[in-house]
Amino acid sequence: MGLKMESSEFKSKNQKTILASPSAETFMMAKEIVSSGGVVAFPTETVYGLGASLYDIDAINRIFEVKGRPNDNPLIVHIHDKSQISMLVKEISESAQKLIDAFMPGPITIIFKKSDVVPYEVTAGLDTVAIRIPNNKVANEFLKACQVPIPAPSANTSSRPSPTTANHVFEDLNGKIPLIIDGGNCEVGIESTVVDATKEIPIVLRPGVITREEIVKVIGQAIECFAVAEGEKALSPGMKYKHYAPLCGMLMVENNVVENLITLYDEKVRNGGKPVILCFEQTKLSLGDREIAVIGKTEKEALVNFYRLLRELEKDYDYIISEAPQKNGLGGSLYNRMKKSCSHNII
Ligand code: TXA
Ligand code: MG
Repeated sequence: MGLKMESSEFKSKNQKTILASPSAETFMMAKEIVSSGGVVAFPTETVYGLGASLYDIDAINRIFEVKGRPNDNPLIVHIHDKSQISMLVKEISESAQKLIDAFMPGPITIIFKKSDVVPYEVTAGLDTVAIRIPNNKVANEFLKACQVPIPAPSANTSSRPSPTTANHVFEDLNGKIPLIIDGGNCEVGIESTVVDATKEIPIVLRPGVITREEIVKVIGQAIECFAVAEGEKALSPGMKYKHYAPLCGMLMVENNVVENLITLYDEKVRNGGKPVILCFEQTKLSLGDREIAVIGKTEKEALVNFYRLLRELEKDYDYIISEAPQKNGLGGSLYNRMKKSCSHNII
């Protein structure tokens, strides 16, 4: 395989993107790219990330450019070992330490006061830094090989569904980055839970598969704050942007589910549209002979499948009519993403 390339080549705007399986050669190439200022896409247990060196400001700016990400939306710094946390942060509060002990490595991101080694380009000017240790062998080998902390957002074009396979990354970023490490399907399927541990009562800023209930069991208390009211400053800058949207229209049905799914579907068909219903397996039984995609039997399955299905269905249909999940527990984390995917278009 021709894995060797010139450093100027992988910074160019139109370049060859290699999809490579994890191997010693691949990790060596990833390290070379990162240490010469390039960006690399890599798998984690949640979604794929797009990483560069913490110490290379041009490379960090390149992440924002490649994704089309607004530069006031900070990145999560990825590391492979808990011992790396202390150099990135000013202090570790008691509750932060409990969260680290209970959930890292895993699908959680913890926010700390940042130390001086973390550039403001990574934190979008904030004095805090988000840190995550993925629980994924390929991610950790990549992070170890790079030998530096790796700031990385999800490896999708801004506002698109996050990538849960290497091919999703390829769809969005082909020609823009030199290397995608193919680690197969992400086993969680949505992004990590983000918890701000700099506050006296920690705040869950983004729900994930680690739920507020589990966090409360470990630290006694935690509040949730995902919404941003009109004109208000977002606690987590990512909250305010359009997110996870398919290219086709989408609407979420939360009341009189079966009746509304059927009525809306039939209305779209009558108007010459090509809709599809996205629902849980149990609901499918009540929907008769219509185009249907099953999101899963359980909420856990639904989380794994959600982003992948959005990317598949947008290719074949012009409208997704989606059944809303429960608003608590894992269902609540799916609800949070689905609401954004349909731009709060909810019935
Ligand atoms: O699972 C994940 O977290 C994936 C994988 C690749 O690790 N990453 C990910 O990154 O989802 P991204 O950039 O798509 O989402 C990061 C979120 C954004 O909503 C951002 O605003 C928030 O974390 N965030 C980052 N640093 C923050 C900070 N210092 N304070 C508050 N929110 C922060
Ligand atoms: Mg993202």
